[in-house]
Amino acid sequence: MHVFVTGGTGLIGSAVVAELLGNGHTVLALARSDASARAAEAAGAEPLRGGLSDLDTLRAGAAGADGVIHLAFSNDFSSPDALAQAVAEESAAMQVIGDELVGSGRPFVTVSGTPWVPGHLATEADPLPTDGPVGGRGRAVNAVLGLATRGVRSTAVRMPRTVHNNGTGGFAGLLTGIARQSGVSGYPGDGTQRWPAVHALDAAVLFRLALEQAEAGSAWHAVDDEGDQVRDIATVIGRRLGLPVRSVPAETYGPLGPVFAADQPASSARTREALGWEPTHPRLLADLENIQP
Ligand SMILES: NC(=O)c1ccc[n+]([C@@H]2O[C@H](COP(=O)([O-])OP(=O)(O)OC[C@H]3O[C@@H](n4cnc5c(N)ncnc54)[C@H](OP(=O)(O)O)[C@@H]3O)[C@@H](O)[C@H]2O)c1
Repeated sequence: MHVFVTGGTGLIGSAVVAELLGNGHTVLALARSDASARAAEAAGAEPLRGGLSDLDTLRAGAAGADGVIHLAFSNDFSSPDALAQAVAEESAAMQVIGDELVGSGRPFVTVSGTPWVPGHLATEADPLPTDGPVGGRGRAVNAVLGLATRGVRSTAVRMPRTVHNNGTGGFAGLLTGIARQSGVSGYPGDGTQRWPAVHALDAAVLFRLALEQAEAGSAWHAVDDEGDQVRDIATVIGRRLGLPVRSVPAETYGPLGPVFAADQPASSARTREALGWEPTHPRLLADLENIQP
């Protein structure tokens, strides 16, 4: 397939581009800067210059492709306003791409997050949260999945809290960044809350499988570790950086405080069974040993 990929230069997207190119697909990669265009080209993709707010560019990218994988997101958690703006920009972009694909039967693979359900492992059948600081992302993904009834083979690949590669990425990466700045490897609450995780190279395989096989309107879990306790994550980060490890107030994490504090383990049993996905790369605590002081 000729696949239009947004976010193809990011942690997850660069792994997805390599996975697609290594399995006989070609890639048109949205690139919002010259540096990103060069990176896309170096990876073997054809760059398409533009950003998530360039709606005509997104339409053109989707129109010329056999399928779309959407991963771009500004990841600006610096304030509630910045996060709301990032969510609004992404939602508008997803709507434009989806509208372009209506009636075509082509796949539209979106990224999403695993939900959290008090008292049990979240499964692929659990609904996404549609309120809270990132609730707008859940609503946008649900709208895309709804296009299944309008001739789009839409599907969502749900990411766990930490998608990592070589010790960086995701919520664990945010904890590492805050630890470097503050001099404390902190965690909210008592740290027994669990976050699921996956290696980016394993997540990339699932994006390809979803593109190639997933039925319209389906959701999948790219979950390897079902749940690592956050104080265990902070302990490895603290040891690698030579910093003390202790509980810190949830407000340390700004708009993400309540999300960081929640116990949110997730399962991928259905994904493994239905799509034959088997992660093979290091799990989070082992990969965090790659953090350099
Ligand atoms: N990593 C995780 O643990 C995790 C967990 C759950 C969900 N996710 C979701 O997975 C997706 C990818 O995550 P990631 O970790 O790979 O992110 P990342 O490394 O920050 O990469 C973001 C990608 O999006 C592009 N991008 C950002 N804003 C853009 C804009 N306005 N217009 C065009 N391109 C834009 C970036 O391009 P440049 O190269 O030009 O910067 C980059 O290619 C995101 O939706 C993220 O929320 C990630």
